[in-house]
Amino acid sequence: MRTDVVRLGRLSGERTGEMMRFLSSMRADRCIADADVLVDIAHVLMLDKQKIIDRDITKQLLQALLELHDEGVPDEAFDDRFEDVHAGIESILTEAVGADVGGRMHMGRSRNDEVATCIRMKLRDDILKQMAALLKVREVLVALAGQHIDSVMPGFTHLQHAQPTTLAHHLLSYEQAFSRDFDRLRDAYIRINQSPLGAAAFASTGYPINRELTARFLGFEGLVNNTMDAVASRDFALEALADLSILMANVSRLCEDLILWSTTFVAFVTLDDAFCSTSSIMPQKKNPDIAEIMRAKTGSVFGAYTGALITVKGLPMSYNRDLQELTPNIWRGMRDAKESLRLLIDMLSSATFDAVRMREEAGKGFSTATELADTLVRSYGLPFRTAHNIVGRAVQKGYLNLETLDTAARELEVDISFADKGLTQEKINEVLDVSYCVALRKAPGGPAPFATKIAIEECRKQLDTDSALIDERLAKLARAKDELIAEARRLVA
Ligand code: ARG
Repeated sequence: MRTDVVRLGRLSGERTGEMMRFLSSMRADRCIADADVLVDIAHVLMLDKQKIIDRDITKQLLQALLELHDEGVPDEAFDDRFEDVHAGIESILTEAVGADVGGRMHMGRSRNDEVATCIRMKLRDDILKQMAALLKVREVLVALAGQHIDSVMPGFTHLQHAQPTTLAHHLLSYEQAFSRDFDRLRDAYIRINQSPLGAAAFASTGYPINRELTARFLGFEGLVNNTMDAVASRDFALEALADLSILMANVSRLCEDLILWSTTFVAFVTLDDAFCSTSSIMPQKKNPDIAEIMRAKTGSVFGAYTGALITVKGLPMSYNRDLQELTPNIWRGMRDAKESLRLLIDMLSSATFDAVRMREEAGKGFSTATELADTLVRSYGLPFRTAHNIVGRAVQKGYLNLETLDTAARELEVDISFADKGLTQEKINEVLDVSYCVALRKAPGGPAPFATKIAIEECRKQLDTDSALIDERLAKLARAKDELIAEARRLVA
């Protein structure tokens, strides 16, 4: 049975399985095991280059580490006997190469800087995946918008018919929200991608280590400079979880729209059967379960964020074991958000929107009354508030026509007769037309087809820029990793 090499000296006495399971971070450590091997390789290479260990030791350590890299970290490294994967890997390695060699790998470092480095490496990969998924969601929204520039639908405030808009306009509003979510993750990445390695327990080390070198080997853009901050801070993870929480709030709102729109009484959208479930008793049922679960996952991501936030709030400097309990929240939040985004992509692109049904609803609830008020202002020089009151009073009467408008003006003691001024029913009908109203709203970002086409063009340009950024970051990370492994192989050969 492999011993935990970390525990041999200071402490004695057996610990029960219950204690070990309570202490262990193994389940979450599965997420960082591959990163841990890379961190080990970078650290050993640095020790070698700084002449802190002999070349002969380097070769043996690297050989064993490269094997772990090539074959993957074996299951036994995750045994609860070890407190964490760092101790597990060191123990396995020591058994393979002997205590005299294996016992030198951990010179000038601690599990504290090691785990912080691993988390940052895994998290930056996850963030890039998240950004890529978000990009796809945005692409689908822009493509759908392109197909529905002229699909007039009711726009709502307070969930009441408010003014006509288009499906394109509605979908692009989500695209813009997701674009800001993308930007937030893009910026968080910069703060995540800094190396804490070399901080050791918190006070760095007396060995002549080279922190810049390990940072470069591992593809980091710089150092978390203060070594106490390097092991103690998790705000980089809190920031990521906060960003995911905001992102999921947007996902949840979109799901809510889709759920509402797929009801029989709204019927603007039909979700693909694959995204729906039925009832065990009501044979006719088609329920939007995936969208509902997504809406609920939003709560889970908020939970991951608040769990992480609350874990750090009372911690004194610097490393405290509590931090271990924060880490699973990161992976849980990431997983829920990633799965949601992936499904959202297909749920949206396979949905069928009913443009006829939308148009049918677009003019209901006097949704074009604002345009009639504006017309009274334009044609007869009325103050907007007066026109607003006249039209409002006419609406109260149940119809918008010449007669109700004139009666309304009289009741409100406005000295005007629209009939006398030459307003015709034809003109009223024209300005109450939903397409007419939409076409007039061509200010930047408005629903008019003219403005929508421009907005779509701008979205497409931004999508290209954002896609290039992801590629650039991925290529940088891949290059660093290739160079690290190549360098290790070169020394071993
Ligand atoms: N498993 C630990 C964590 O996730 C690694 C660091 C342990 N450090 C220590 N001093 N016990 O935080």
